[in-house]
Amino acid sequence: MSTQTQTWTFKGSEGDFELKDPHLTSYLYFPLVNEAGMMSSITPSLHGDIKSGHNTFLSEPVSAESLHNSRAARNFWVHNQEFGPWSCTGNSAVQHASRLDKETEGGDKVTLEAGLLWHKVIRNNTRIGLRAETVSFVPAGADRVELMKVTLTNTGNRKLTLTPTAAVPLYARSADDLRDHRHVTSLLHRIYTSAGGIEVQPSLSFDERGHRVNKTAYSVLGSEGDGGKPAGFFPIAERFIGEGGNYDWPEAIVRNDVPHSGPGEALEGFEAVGAIRFAEAVLQPGESKSYIVAMAITDDRMDEDRLWKTYMSEASFDHLLGACKAYWREKADAVQFHSANKEFDLWMKWVTLQPILRRLCGNSFMPHHDYGRGGRGWRDLWQDCLALMIMEPEEVRQLLSDNFAGVRIDGSNATIIGRLPGEFVADRNNIPRVWMDHGAWPFLTVLLYLNQSGDLNFLLQEQTYFRDAFVNRCRERDDSWTPESGNLLRTTNGEIYRGTILEHMLLQHLTPFYLVGEHNHMRLEGADWNDGLDMAADRGESVAFTAFYAGNLRDLASVLRKLERRTGTAAAKLAEEMLVLLDSLGEPADYDSVSAKHELLNRYFERIAGGVSGRKTAISLVSLAEDLERKASWIENHIRTSEWVTSESGSSWFNGYYNNDGERVEGDHPEGVRMTLTGQVFPIMSGVAAEEQIPSVIQAVDRHLLDEEIGYRLNSRFGGIQQNLGRAFGFAFGHKENGAMFSHMTVMYANALYKRGFVKEGKAVLDSIYSLCADFPKSRIYPGIPEYINEQGRGMYHYLTGSASWLLLTELMEVYGVKGDLGDLLLQPKLSGEQFDEAGKAAVVTQFAGRRLRVVYINEERKEYGDRQAGSCLLNGKPARVEPAAGGCLLSRALIKSLPEEGVHELCLKLI
Ligand code: G1P
Repeated sequence: MSTQTQTWTFKGSEGDFELKDPHLTSYLYFPLVNEAGMMSSITPSLHGDIKSGHNTFLSEPVSAESLHNSRAARNFWVHNQEFGPWSCTGNSAVQHASRLDKETEGGDKVTLEAGLLWHKVIRNNTRIGLRAETVSFVPAGADRVELMKVTLTNTGNRKLTLTPTAAVPLYARSADDLRDHRHVTSLLHRIYTSAGGIEVQPSLSFDERGHRVNKTAYSVLGSEGDGGKPAGFFPIAERFIGEGGNYDWPEAIVRNDVPHSGPGEALEGFEAVGAIRFAEAVLQPGESKSYIVAMAITDDRMDEDRLWKTYMSEASFDHLLGACKAYWREKADAVQFHSANKEFDLWMKWVTLQPILRRLCGNSFMPHHDYGRGGRGWRDLWQDCLALMIMEPEEVRQLLSDNFAGVRIDGSNATIIGRLPGEFVADRNNIPRVWMDHGAWPFLTVLLYLNQSGDLNFLLQEQTYFRDAFVNRCRERDDSWTPESGNLLRTTNGEIYRGTILEHMLLQHLTPFYLVGEHNHMRLEGADWNDGLDMAADRGESVAFTAFYAGNLRDLASVLRKLERRTGTAAAKLAEEMLVLLDSLGEPADYDSVSAKHELLNRYFERIAGGVSGRKTAISLVSLAEDLERKASWIENHIRTSEWVTSESGSSWFNGYYNNDGERVEGDHPEGVRMTLTGQVFPIMSGVAAEEQIPSVIQAVDRHLLDEEIGYRLNSRFGGIQQNLGRAFGFAFGHKENGAMFSHMTVMYANALYKRGFVKEGKAVLDSIYSLCADFPKSRIYPGIPEYINEQGRGMYHYLTGSASWLLLTELMEVYGVKGDLGDLLLQPKLSGEQFDEAGKAAVVTQFAGRRLRVVYINEERKEYGDRQAGSCLLNGKPARVEPAAGGCLLSRALIKSLPEEGVHELCLKLI
């Protein structure tokens, strides 16, 4: 076993980093992607797959456990008469055999350098006197291409004669074929050699879509640095490898065979490999020579001339690499933090990039994410918008509006999200499932949008509703619906029905308000945020998310009051059927009565059975706000008083759940205290937890969930598999949704603490996450935040996680306190004293109202939050007109808008 304790270190100011001996860490991978849809993962030994979608894998699909599979590795061999074969990527049987032998290490010393979004491995072999530098990236253009440049340098003092061969196995088909007809689908392969490389265009594709004529082609091209063509090819995998050989010791390389093919050949029916032989090279001491390899996925046979001109020379490569770096730098620079901790600021660059990676890859296509087809779930769709609002704000309004087309008239939503914006698909598997938290996230995202933009009229914009066979929150089927009738809700007259965004959000909150379990909290239904709580659909309740909904109801009411005051809109038109849900407008319901709630909800469901009338009633915004406030207050009071548990040891906190036997989940238990972090986060964040309850919750979390080794756990050890709660407890304790440090929830815990003014405690939580991630010898991940940290401290499911959006948001809007207030700009820094640099300065560059701003806080005495107040505020060096706000100040949108659109404007707030 390796005992390596090296860690990565940042170089420069762009987030570039270096790691020694990267190949001595398993499961380490890095993303290379572009907007055109190329998605590659790459390890220090250049393993990892290359694809543009579930059905179009250029190399064999891998998951974390098969990352060492050489059938999904880029290789570049050199053969020398004296030393035999040597792999520039470290993938020869000899190098593998000596990898863990510290003494020999195959003679190789390896260093990794990487940045946004490029990857370089430097491999030095002193015995041969050869260094190979391999740079990989995916150009930022419109092609689905991954490029690799290998530079060989003679580091010895003798002339070296080398025969180079690039070798990239070409899987060239759908991920489905990995197990399903792997061999038969190789018979579909049509393999072509050309002047520059090898191309595979399978004749048909066999996958979930059926057997179809296939057009997609997969190719590997190779050139010398000056654009020189290859010397020949080994296109057929089994001949390249040889009988008894394998990709780590291929016969064609080991025996230094002459190429099996020249250009212009057509072959068929075999597994293929992009194995490209270059002419023998002679390197004098100190001399270097470069080769370019391109891996491309094209919609039809490649246009080789165009690809060659665009990519196949060292000059093009270097130029495109520069453009790629600039592209990602600009993305990551959308938000730039400056604090006393430079390392943390650089680490945040990687976190900032992660929401974009998730937009591009969904929850699939990185080695740990070995599931799904690239789609995102409903919850993630909305959460990813949070960060995109900061990173890529231009298209957010449309995106949000489109997403509301997924809401059903019963307040639930479609769970299969189509490829196009606003496209939602009926679940062909007919698995009716409602995640009870789904209705809560859209409002949170919309509220952020309203605050950032001041665009209150967005609430009154209209959108369609989703319709399929499921009705009454998936508890019943309406067999009168057929796929042919389409996924748009129609009125009883057959017209497409549209309601305001406000109406959509009201339904998302009002239906769960009435759908309560026996303890009068919202039913858990299929699950909540924790996908793993999926076995309590009958009697389970989620107190945690009931609190979240309560906070939303109160915030929505407040927004409605502002809509009325600011725009003079007195009323909103709502579907007449839903008035029954706004009971306070007529006969107020008894919220203490579970049966009264159910009866009321059923009345609504009866009214909408078979469609809506299309008639609307105008409701005064103030009355609407009052109704929502009444509901919010009832929930707040109910949770505060009935769900406050105290253990024998004296800790007190909120119970977050009831299980399928109707039993309270949290509190003392013969097998130890049972507690969840989720159950604490949402009462705090939503304002349901009374101010005086928060210190007790913090103490209880520290006592029962904080682990010295892996930080804040998602839950304590319950023991047993909890068949009355969910599959999560089938996972080993300390992993994934069973007691790992699940970044998303931990970041939301920090966010909630900051929001409620518990700044010191919130900072401790953020610090803990950062230390766990940046502790490379334990976390074994590159900079960035993973989905979770497991029991061993390893970072898991790196890159694609909603926690990145939340961390970015929490840093910007809570820690640095730069946020919108219905269109105006609020500066409310909650930075702690030590976060200011030696000059007492902390700063963040961000975008607001279409202007780039650099917000600088000066806190010369590095005073703590709470001990300081806002002093003077300068805008581009001149006193700015501001209104005081708790701990900071408010600047009008008009003032920000009056600034020129170009350049970065400096806002400097003194803290005294
Ligand atoms: C993932 C899912 C998210 C879900 C969470 C807990 O979190 O993407 O929807 O709520 O697991 O089950 P993420 O990977 O975004 O951190």
